[in-house]
Amino acid sequence: MTRIENSKQHNLILGIETSCDETAAAVTSGGHTILSNVVWSQVATHHPYGGVVPELASRKHMEKIVPVVEKALAVAGADSNGIDGVAVTCGPGLVGALLVGLSFAKAFAYARGLPLTGVNHLHGHIAAVYLQPDPPPFPFVALLASGGHTNLYYVAGPMDFEHMGQTRDDAAGEAFDKVAKILGLGYPGGVVIDQLSEQGDPERIRFPRAFLDRTGFDFSFSGIKTAVARYVQREKEASPKRIQDIAAGFQEAVIDVLVQKGISAAKAKGCQHLALVGGVASNRRLRERIKEAAQEAGLRRVHIPIPELCTDNAAMIAIMGYHQLSKGENSSPPSSPKSRPGGRWRAGLDLDAYSKTTHSGRLGVVK
Ligand code: KG4
Ligand code: ZN
Repeated sequence: MTRIENSKQHNLILGIETSCDETAAAVTSGGHTILSNVVWSQVATHHPYGGVVPELASRKHMEKIVPVVEKALAVAGADSNGIDGVAVTCGPGLVGALLVGLSFAKAFAYARGLPLTGVNHLHGHIAAVYLQPDPPPFPFVALLASGGHTNLYYVAGPMDFEHMGQTRDDAAGEAFDKVAKILGLGYPGGVVIDQLSEQGDPERIRFPRAFLDRTGFDFSFSGIKTAVARYVQREKEASPKRIQDIAAGFQEAVIDVLVQKGISAAKAKGCQHLALVGGVASNRRLRERIKEAAQEAGLRRVHIPIPELCTDNAAMIAIMGYHQLSKGENSSPPSSPKSRPGGRWRAGLDLDAYSKTTHSGRLGVVK
């Protein structure tokens, strides 16, 4: 019997994440326990350029992947031969960066005869709530707000994601990063705007909220960003107080839209539970406001991972991988005719990286 045929053996999963500017590895046990979660941030490398430089990201991943995995194994107290399966992000993300994690994961799994599964990064973000002490019961609605995506899903089971809506232009986190750049706050922008906004007045400057069709679940954030840029061009004064007010006004506009759409999506699906995930979910004001609004709307609970599990990490990839491996999901690339979900595990050496997802199909692809 191969390991994949006995889900009880899928206890220790090594997760690997290199989709953007974090080199991350984690070891999880069963479907819920984190034994280690190591994240090497490349912020210092990309900071001088005001954004992620793909070529530099790949090179840093090459440099850090081995020590990061070694550390994850050591912290978990796990021998590399004690690992039962490997889960690796295969997209969406920077292809060169993804290929580093993917190549490492293939070699690691192949050398030990371990099952390997490719995880969709966006599914991984949602799976971060499965690691909470009190995870949401199925079905629930998930609002994913990150640097590259702003999506809504109806989640009917651990691996059952129905896509409800997405941004038509910039992602919420991207808007944070671009506005931070406009305000001369550097990269990455989300955390700085979060902190500065605390001293600002969110009502003083009102930026437009793009609700689009109020009954639909798509988003648009490029208008808010442009409105901030115009405001800054018009207003010559750049006192620290004014910058705090702009940051707070911008943040409030983004939060209004995220909160309204997240809650109305949960109501439309008759769900009592809403999950908020992705890097932007670590925003303190958003966390507060969505909980208040959910209470007012009569939802039972909003589930938000701890901040370290909102931003990119490998524990979320390991846990998603655990579910995939337990169901016998093999590692063929998304559109491959060879991809047979539930089929027998192969070495997974044909697993490929992809930069974007479409909203149909399976493995690594958002339904
Ligand atoms: O999920 P994530 O780590 O990477 C992607 O998959 O994109 O999200 C990163 C994004 C960045 O745009 C960053 O500015 C934003 O999340 N972010 C925040 C905060 N922390 C990170 N945005 C608002 N407030 C924060 N505290
Ligand atoms: Zn992410």
